[in-house]
Amino acid sequence: MTSTSSAGTTTTVTATASGRWTLGDLPVNRIGFGTMRLPQTGGALVPDAVPRDRDAALAVLRRAVDLGVNHIDTAAFYFSPLRSANELINSALAPYADDLVITTKVGPARDLTGQWAAHARTPEALRGQVEENLRQLGRDHLDVVNLRIVGTDSIAERFGALAELRQAGLIRHLGLSNVTPAHLAEAQAIAPVVCVQNRYGLGMRSKDDAFVQDCGAQGIAFVPYYAIAAAGGEAGATGAEPAEVLAVAQAHGVGPAEIRLAWTLHQGPHVLAIPGTGDPGHLAANVAAGALSLSEDELKLLDGLHRSATTG
Ligand SMILES: NC(=O)c1ccc[n+]([C@@H]2O[C@H](COP(=O)([O-])OP(=O)(O)OC[C@H]3O[C@@H](n4cnc5c(N)ncnc54)[C@H](OP(=O)(O)O)[C@@H]3O)[C@@H](O)[C@H]2O)c1
Repeated sequence: MTSTSSAGTTTTVTATASGRWTLGDLPVNRIGFGTMRLPQTGGALVPDAVPRDRDAALAVLRRAVDLGVNHIDTAAFYFSPLRSANELINSALAPYADDLVITTKVGPARDLTGQWAAHARTPEALRGQVEENLRQLGRDHLDVVNLRIVGTDSIAERFGALAELRQAGLIRHLGLSNVTPAHLAEAQAIAPVVCVQNRYGLGMRSKDDAFVQDCGAQGIAFVPYYAIAAAGGEAGATGAEPAEVLAVAQAHGVGPAEIRLAWTLHQGPHVLAIPGTGDPGHLAANVAAGALSLSEDELKLLDGLHRSATTG
């Protein structure tokens, strides 16, 4: 997005306007980019997904970095029949800038046909997934690796295995995804956790508000996914927006997606955004959302919606 000053100068809003957070020792702008949408059109990670045009996907990644994005979220299981998110990142952005932080996740797995397979649970399987990410990204260490889980059972063995890979220098920092406060406490007894990546957003999972704040109090980044898609989840944004979101969007002259992002960033300086899109216009709008300042009245209105209309 561009803005024009009274002197007629046009400036582009970049991700630096969203402020900074440090993941362990790695500073990032708070507006980042999620790559789950890039290998295919539509969101779904399914065997028959329609591959996205390769040049268009590469262009979105390069534009994101041009706009100051230096935190990119990915996974080896983000692929369609012809495209892999990690390969696209490697082709578009290597040799990587010193300030680029790539966060990946391990645990979930898909077989070569694209069907979901059993989660990696053993140290050997997790090591294999870490090495797969290293090969695809063309790196000799990973900046941040999230252990992505399902369920409520102990993560000690799995997180311990990743902590050993961190000690061995394959991973710089560790995070968690889809976890409870109990999982976070269990992991922290084993090794430092720099981020929690959970489903959360305006009108979604208000029961986790305290967890979001608790992460901040502990100096841990909270990185919500589906902050725009909200109830649409993997299928993507539905376009159906509550009147409160539409009213605030209109007041700022932006779309509802930007208000959803701005609201999440207003939950604390430790909250980062990783919006996913294959649309260059949406990318620019999402980056510009990092500069939006919501008034107290607007936050009150949106907080009320968040508490009353929560899903997920
Ligand atoms: N840890 C986990 O379990 C997990 C799970 C899911 C996702 N993730 C990560 O989180 C990232 C974000 O999640 P996400 O990509 O699914 O959802 P999202 O960022 O909440 O929303 C993406 C959806 O919103 C649309 N959109 C994006 N910007 C828009 C704009 N400015 N205006 C209107 N529509 C807009 C996209 O369509 P267009 O392409 O048309 O813009 C897409 O339908 C993923 O890319 C992935 O890296 C992690």
